[in-house]
Amino acid sequence: MIGFSWLMFCGLLHASVLHAACPARCECSEAAQTVKCVSKDLRHIPTGIPGYTRNLFITGNHINRIGSESFKGLDNVTTLSLINNGITELESQAFSGLHSLLFLDLSGNRLAVIHPEALTTAGRTLRELNLSRALRDPSASADLARLLRLGTLTGLRGLDLSGNALGALPSGMFYRLPALRRLLLANNSLAALRNGSFSGLLRLEELDLSRNAFRTFRGESLGELEAVPRARLLLAHNPLSCSCAALPFARWLNGSRERAGDGERLACASPPELRNSSLLEAGGAPGGCREDKEEEEEEEGGVDLALQTSYVFLGVVLGFVGVVFLFVLYLNRKGIKRWMFDTRDACREALEGYHYRMEVDSDPRLSQVSTTADL
Ligand SMILES: *[C@@H]1O[C@H](CO)[C@@H](O)[C@H](O)[C@H]1NC(C)=O
Ligand SMILES: *[C@@H]1O[C@H](CO)[C@@H](O)[C@H](O)[C@H]1NC(C)=O
Ligand SMILES: *[C@@H]1O[C@H](CO)[C@@H](O)[C@H](O)[C@H]1NC(C)=O
Ligand SMILES: *[C@@H]1O[C@H](CO)[C@@H](O)[C@H](O)[C@H]1NC(C)=O
Ligand SMILES: *[C@@H]1O[C@H](CO)[C@@H](O)[C@H](O)[C@H]1NC(C)=O
Ligand SMILES: *[C@@H]1O[C@H](CO)[C@@H](O)[C@H](O)[C@H]1NC(C)=O
Repeated sequence: MIGFSWLMFCGLLHASVLHAACPARCECSEAAQTVKCVSKDLRHIPTGIPGYTRNLFITGNHINRIGSESFKGLDNVTTLSLINNGITELESQAFSGLHSLLFLDLSGNRLAVIHPEALTTAGRTLRELNLSRALRDPSASADLARLLRLGTLTGLRGLDLSGNALGALPSGMFYRLPALRRLLLANNSLAALRNGSFSGLLRLEELDLSRNAFRTFRGESLGELEAVPRARLLLAHNPLSCSCAALPFARWLNGSRERAGDGERLACASPPELRNSSLLEAGGAPGGCREDKEEEEEEEGGVDLALQTSYVFLGVVLGFVGVVFLFVLYLNRKGIKRWMFDTRDACREALEGYHYRMEVDSDPRLSQVSTTADL
C-alpha cells in the first residue's frame, strides 16, 4: 500500500516535471528536439522552452515585439521560425542567447522598427535569413540596411527580401555580406538599380529580380548586373520594353545567356505590337525593335504633369496673394471705413453740387435770371 502510493507520487511528480518541461500551448518532442507553438494566440515568446530544442516553431500567433529576454538559454536552437506573428519590433539583442542559430525565418510579419543590434550575437552563426513579406514600410528597410551594414552577418549565405514593396535599395545595403550566395528580391517595386547596390557581393550565385518594375536595364542598372558577374539572374514578370531604347539590354542579355536563368523566356510587355514576343528575338534582332509610342506618350505625359504642376503652383500663389490682400484689408478696416465715409461725403457733396446745378440749369426762370444777369 505504501509502495503503491509512493509509486503514484513518483508518477505525479514525473508527470508534473514533464508538463513543466514544455511551455503551455506548445508541443514538445525531445526525440525530434523540436518545439512547436502554432496558432495558439500567444502574446509573448513562451518561457520554459526546453534546452534540448534545436528546431523552434512559433508561428501564427500575436507577438508584438522580440526583446533581449525572449530567447534565454537556448544554446542548441539552430532553426527558429517566427512566421506570421504580427511582429512589429525587433529590439537590441533580440536573438541573443541563440548561439547556434543557422536559420531564422521572420517572413509574414509587419516589422516597423529593427534595432541595428538586433542580430549582433546570433548574426555571427546565421546562414539564412528570411524576411519575405516582413517589412512594413521604407523605414523598416532603412533599419535593416543599417543592421546589415554593421557587418555582423559575415556568414550569411541566403537572404530573402521578396514581397516587401521595396521601391529602392538603400545604397551599400549588401556591402558587408561577403558570404552571400542567394539574394531574393522578387515581387518588389524596383525599377532601377543605383550604382553600388550590389557591390561587395563577391560570391553571389543567384539574384532574383523577377516580378519587379524594371522596363529595361541601362546605365547604372546594367552596371550593377555586371557587378555580380557570377550570379544567375531571374528577371521574369517585369514589364520589359522591346523598344529600340532597350536594344543595348537585349544585346547584353543575348551575350549573357548562361547568366540569365530565364532569359529565353523573357517576354516584351511593350510596345503593343511586340507584346508577349520573346525579348531576345524581338530586341536582339537587327531591325526587330519598334519605337514605343506608349513610352513617348508617357514622356509627354510627364510634360503634361509638369504643366499641371505649374498651374497648381500658380493657383497656390494667387490664392496666397488673395489671402494677404484680404488680411491687409482686415487690418486696415478702420482706415478703410474712414476712407469710405470720406469718399461717400465727398461724393454726396459733389452730387449735391451737381444736382443743384442741374436744377439751376433745368429751371427756365432761373436760367433766364442768369442769362439776364449776364446781360
Ligand atoms: C544542448 O544539447 C546538448 C546535447 O546535444 C546538451 O548536453 C546540452 O545540455 C544542451 N544545452 C542546453 C542549454 O540544454
Ligand atoms: C521565405 O518564406 C516564405 C514565406 O514563408 C517562403 O515562401 C519562402 O520559400 C522562404 N524563402 C526561402 C529562401 O526559404
Ligand atoms: C507579392 O507580394 C504581395 C505582398 O507584398 C503578396 O500579396 C503577393 O501574393 C505576392 N505575389 C507573389 C506572386 O508572390
Ligand atoms: C559607381 O561608383 C564608383 C565608385 O563608387 C565609380 O568608380 C563608378 O564610376 C560609378 N559608376 C557609375 C556608372 O556611375
Ligand atoms: C503569351 O504567350 C504565352 C506562351 O508563350 C501564352 O501562354 C500566353 O497566353 C500569351 N499571353 C498573351 C496575353 O498573349
Ligand atoms: C546573339 O549572340 C550570338 C553569339 O553568341 C550571335 O551569333 C547572334 O547573332 C546574337 N543574336 C542577336 C539577335 O543579336
